Amino acid sequence: MTRIQGVIPVAGEGSRLRPLTFTIPKPLIPVLGKPLIVHSITRLLEAGVSKFTLIVGHLGYMFSETLGDGSPYGVSIRYVTQERRLGIAHAIYRAVENGVDNPFVVHLGDNIFEEGVSRFIREFAEGDYEVFIVLTRARDPTRFGCALIRDGRVVRLVEKPKEPPPGSYVVTGFYAFRDPDMVGKAFRDLKPSQRGEYEVTDLIQWFIDRGYNVGYAVTNGWWKDMGTPSDLLDLLYLLLDKVDARIEGDVVGEVKGRVIIEKDALVEGSVTGPAYIGRGVRISKDSSIEPYSSIEEATLVESGTISRSLLMNNVAVSLNRARLIDSILGRYTRVDVSRELHGDMRLLLSDYSYLRI
Ligand code: G1P
Repeated sequence: MTRIQGVIPVAGEGSRLRPLTFTIPKPLIPVLGKPLIVHSITRLLEAGVSKFTLIVGHLGYMFSETLGDGSPYGVSIRYVTQERRLGIAHAIYRAVENGVDNPFVVHLGDNIFEEGVSRFIREFAEGDYEVFIVLTRARDPTRFGCALIRDGRVVRLVEKPKEPPPGSYVVTGFYAFRDPDMVGKAFRDLKPSQRGEYEVTDLIQWFIDRGYNVGYAVTNGWWKDMGTPSDLLDLLYLLLDKVDARIEGDVVGEVKGRVIIEKDALVEGSVTGPAYIGRGVRISKDSSIEPYSSIEEATLVESGTISRSLLMNNVAVSLNRARLIDSILGRYTRVDVSRELHGDMRLLLSDYSYLRI
């Protein structure tokens, strides 16, 4: 099979992650030192995909500003705009219309697979499939596309059914297509769904209905689709579960467990892993970072305790005796807490917020 290309739809507004996504698209949110989308691009590159088309819309310019032509990541990236939010099938169609001319995989910009994507790409490339999808089981299938499998074949896909067919799987955000021209033909037959979008599940159903060979794999590990703030925190915890200790910054305080401390970071307080301390971060002597936290580039923790939280780049917090837990702080946020306040706080603050208590 000729070289497989990658298509990543990232045009969505990320409405369930507002207010964060008013100023940063969901796939560019930094986690463990790199934008979420780079975690996916790295996994695709490991599987041999190096030529990408990003379908951009909401805050689209920020993708090219951050990722450029892809060369810093060892890949090539070009950008195609999806002017209106017409759904994933339409985003795929935009890629096809704009010159994706090989078999290609589509990886949604807000999905991450624990096992990576190499196995899926291998199975797709080795099998005689027109379309290939990746399935899993989920607690709440009504939030996703669902797939009904009978005798080892995909027989029906339904988008967010109120009553999922018994025994059905959830369809993840990874799809592979052999022939871009056929995808174009299928798309032109589609009608928008009730939410006004061209659904990827309908696009694939088109192939099933016409008897094409639609293959599938069931993913072995965890799979995360970052819809909401709690999904984002869950993903952070899952990623931190996998980190190995690496200390490149300066430690004057105390570091325990699996902790990454990047270059130019300074830890004067305490950090207990699993945790991530980004480049240029300072953890002052009156502060402690508890497990499952990620403190991104150039952030300053002057005092207080941080637990199970994501602090993005260039944040400054001075918590005194307070403890921040299960929280997300956007870039350039400042939090100042007076010394009278004890106990836990849960915050979700967008970029450039200022909170003084
Ligand atoms: C989309 C797909 C859905 C799939 C999900 C996976 O949903 O339409 O079939 O299960 O991605 O992330 P959306 O994120 O557009 O609601």
